[in-house]
Amino acid sequence: MGTNTELTDEQFYNRVDDISWIKNFLESTSKGSPPTIMVTGIRGVGKTVLLKKIKKEMENDYLICYVDLSITSGYQKGKLTEVGLMHEFYDCWMEECEKKGITTIFKKILKMSKKSLGLREIVEVGGWPLPIPETEDDYKKLSKFVFDLPQRIYEWDQERIKGSILIIDEFQAIKDLGKNLEAFLWFFRGVIQSQRNVAYIFSGSVPSTDSIVKEMASNDGVFGGRILTFDIPPFTKEVVREYLEEKVPSLIFEENGFERFYHCTKGVPFYVNTFARILPKEVPLDNDKVKIEFKNSLTFLAVHFMNQWSRLTFQEQCVITKVIDKPMKRLDIAKSMDKKPGALSVSLRKLQDRGLLKSENGEYKITEPIFKAWLKKEYDEKGVFPFRSI
Ligand SMILES: Nc1ncnc2c1ncn2[C@@H]1O[C@H](COP(=O)(O)OP(=O)(O)OP(=O)(O)O)[C@@H](O)[C@H]1O
Ligand SMILES: [Mg+2]
Repeated sequence: MGTNTELTDEQFYNRVDDISWIKNFLESTSKGSPPTIMVTGIRGVGKTVLLKKIKKEMENDYLICYVDLSITSGYQKGKLTEVGLMHEFYDCWMEECEKKGITTIFKKILKMSKKSLGLREIVEVGGWPLPIPETEDDYKKLSKFVFDLPQRIYEWDQERIKGSILIIDEFQAIKDLGKNLEAFLWFFRGVIQSQRNVAYIFSGSVPSTDSIVKEMASNDGVFGGRILTFDIPPFTKEVVREYLEEKVPSLIFEENGFERFYHCTKGVPFYVNTFARILPKEVPLDNDKVKIEFKNSLTFLAVHFMNQWSRLTFQEQCVITKVIDKPMKRLDIAKSMDKKPGALSVSLRKLQDRGLLKSENGEYKITEPIFKAWLKKEYDEKGVFPFRSI
């Protein structure tokens, strides 16, 4: 079983229908009616591996660019900007062209730069054309130039490719654009609508109720209900059973042991893989044994959350510990922290944006059971929450 996002065909399991559904829609790109698709699903459910598999299966016919916004340098350094975003997209298209051997594109870009691109300067760096924006006005032109690029490349090289596809993973990172976000999304929409041979896929670890999904996909959202949304579910009990029998036959579950395994992992492939790897092999596993092993494995299962937790402020961490036993209203959280409710707005917003908290019926609760279980275990063992990391 694999634990990174580059799974071999051997390691990749199931999802046959999901893949053929998405591929079918993408194929309409070659007929001049490209779709815009939003792929959602909880953390670790397998969005990234699924998208990468689709890329692999289609990249012979299409020019496909995959960008993960959460690992862009702008986002990592604290703030993603529009210009940063454009450079990411641009580099990705250039890399893909190079991989496909359609480097004549580079010469074409260099040649047409001054006149039709409206950019002040494009220089050649390491064989690639590199636009250098200088003024605010240039930045706008840069965005237009980069967004137009996949359509242009298709028009230049129709013999080689049936269309272009841009996959934007962890797209919720564009919330970093802050007050510029809405204008950016409208601009983006304009571009998408004018292109006949470029398909777009957005994906991210956001629940379909998240504000950014609503802003984009709902009927009165930026894309006016024109996005096809697709939610990837966890594996069902039957799929997990077959998967483990095939991949790890040395795991011997008693019936209640398997029930407990499914209850702990909820069928989320990341947890299924991680937990299955840790569990002892060739010994009967019943409910109690799985329960104990689960507790011992929490540091491995919750690794993403531990990272996120360590980057929170003390106040944000406090808010989380308040709602660990039961959901609470903002007013009550504030009271218990001796603060005014308004003083928590920013923290609550950020915790929801990061997917750590959600609000239901006016009450806040922890989104992910594994995150909660890890915090509780820390508290039980040490008598205090791990507010500071060493
Ligand atoms: N179809 C699958 N077959 C086998 N393993 C899978 C499958 N899908 C996901 N996994 C396992 O789950 C892990 C997490 O998958 P992935 O990173 O794609 O999830 P994600 O939904 O993108 O999560 P995140 O929201 O954190 O980005 C993979 O590294 C892999 O081990
Ligand atoms: Mg992912």
